[in-house]
Amino acid sequence: MKSIVILISGRGSNMEAIVQADIPGVRIAAVISNRPKAGGLQFAAGRGIHTEVVDHTAFESRALFDQSLAEAIDRHAPDLVVLAGFMRVLTDGFVRRYEGRMINIHPSLLPAFGGLATHRRAIDAGVRFHGATVHFVTPTLDDGPIVIQAAVPVLPDDTEETLAERVLVEEHRIYPQAVRWIAEDRVRLENGRAVVLAAPESGCSINPALEC
Ligand code: GRF
Repeated sequence: MKSIVILISGRGSNMEAIVQADIPGVRIAAVISNRPKAGGLQFAAGRGIHTEVVDHTAFESRALFDQSLAEAIDRHAPDLVVLAGFMRVLTDGFVRRYEGRMINIHPSLLPAFGGLATHRRAIDAGVRFHGATVHFVTPTLDDGPIVIQAAVPVLPDDTEETLAERVLVEEHRIYPQAVRWIAEDRVRLENGRAVVLAAPESGCSINPALEC
């Protein structure tokens, strides 16, 4: 059984997708938010999951907040830390502590459009495809080995909202998939890249398509 801790800041729909996927071999030890009012906390508590708040506004520095957050996480000794709409920039020390066992979802096809307002920027840039990326977290923001991506077309009449909606559907599909692959020990980090191994029974021999 692999245990995971999920960090959220708001609505928590990605966390919800992971909970609802009910991934075999995965136990959600805790959902931790940096904001007391994060909507996702209620959902998690309602599902009997341990919830906690480490309020960043109560700390004088980023380092002190990160230290307290790390203590809260480590009490659950998770195999994997899952950032799901966790809107805080983390210190290098914090990131290194969880190197190779912390993942994030970002609403763009990285390395394009790191940072904020990704949907607006994708429309403004006139790209034909946009999407979402699950990646391991490294000290560089929105960087790090890519586990899975999903693309959606950018339609001529898309607004920031309609595009975000289409991307979010894919986020909810790929994030549980990434967690499942990692729980199954099918993701290896090699030379700064994440390689996904095919399921032994699938008969697939290459970096797999989704159904492998
Ligand atoms: C998602 O679009 C995620 O990719 C981004 O922030 C949003 C969080 O949504 N990092 P939710 O809290 O999971 O609903």
